[in-house]
Amino acid sequence: VAAEKAGYKHFMQKEIFEQPRAIIDTLRSVVDLNQERLRLSDLNISQDLVKTVKRIHLVACGTSYHACLVAKYLLEQLCHVPVDVDLGSEFRYRGPLLNSNSLLLVVSQSGETADTRAALKEGLERGAHCRAVVNVVGSTLARMAHGVLYTHAGPEIGVASTKTFTTQLVALYLFALHWAHLSGRIQPRQLSYHIQGLRELPGKIEEVLSAEQTLREWARRFMDREHFLYLGRGLLYPIALEGALKMKEISYIHAEGYAAGEMKHGPIALVDEKMPVVALIQKGPLYEKMLSNVQEVKARGGKVLAFVEGDRDVRLDDDVLQFCVPQTAPWLAPIVFTVPLQLLAYHMADLRGTDVDQPRNLAKSVTVE
Ligand code: G6P
Repeated sequence: VAAEKAGYKHFMQKEIFEQPRAIIDTLRSVVDLNQERLRLSDLNISQDLVKTVKRIHLVACGTSYHACLVAKYLLEQLCHVPVDVDLGSEFRYRGPLLNSNSLLLVVSQSGETADTRAALKEGLERGAHCRAVVNVVGSTLARMAHGVLYTHAGPEIGVASTKTFTTQLVALYLFALHWAHLSGRIQPRQLSYHIQGLRELPGKIEEVLSAEQTLREWARRFMDREHFLYLGRGLLYPIALEGALKMKEISYIHAEGYAAGEMKHGPIALVDEKMPVVALIQKGPLYEKMLSNVQEVKARGGKVLAFVEGDRDVRLDDDVLQFCVPQTAPWLAPIVFTVPLQLLAYHMADLRGTDVDQPRNLAKSVTVE
């Protein structure tokens, strides 16, 4: 087993460090990097289908669900198609309006999750067009769907998903680009701009990985805390949810992810000097709003751990801890911001001495409803 961990202490740590490679493999599988063209033939999506589909339903569980929340932004903005996102365990009980104008896209690492399988079955029975994004070749979901896009993360041993999440985000981005291209919403020149951003992504992730020690120090400093709040907006809102989920799953610290703008409607009541607040700060239209959320936390004595895009943010006070996340094209921020949150959760769990790769009560793949 030690050999399989390739010198890392845990599979999870190894898998976090495998992300640049996993992303390159996922890209290479469908992108002709020289000609900047997409080859997503296994997905089985035609121009006619794109014209037929009036609504896309994204369904998944756990971490894969967070990937769907990010994809909603991408699909609605790049493709102008309305998107619903549902949890596998909720979807079929709400009587979703599915018909031959619907596309159901299920997202799953294992391709075996029972609730996601039940959602797909529902879609098939109601005549929706069904596709899957999965990591395991030949898995049940891959076989049931009418087309599949594989993430090429390779086997993931750690129960908490890491490289499979970031490759799902890449795959869903590629899905959106493919759809936008087929519908004539983006031209070849814009497509090559997007592809260029994706090519640079593995290098940006390497940059984050090289700062691992900083996150270990942060973890050491906060390892005795009972609660964490994660705040994000826009594309980084789902990443706040995912960051909090990672923290809960492996360190057993209670962590809550929230849309920063909703803080005033509840979680702000919890803020005091005992609860660290993780703030995800992207440059762009939501930047000022995030800074004022940070001020609100500080005004109540909260300690802020800021993940900021680009260089050190001079507008944040000296007592705010800052971790710089490399700047990318806006759509890629969710992917780079995920990595330091994985490392923070990992080191927190390691320092607290939990069973990182096999957290209590959790399973890698949940095949019961
Ligand atoms: C389990 C795993 C999670 C995973 C979820 C969905 O709860 O512990 O890491 O996100 O199942 O799994 P899937 O294989 O469908 O992505």
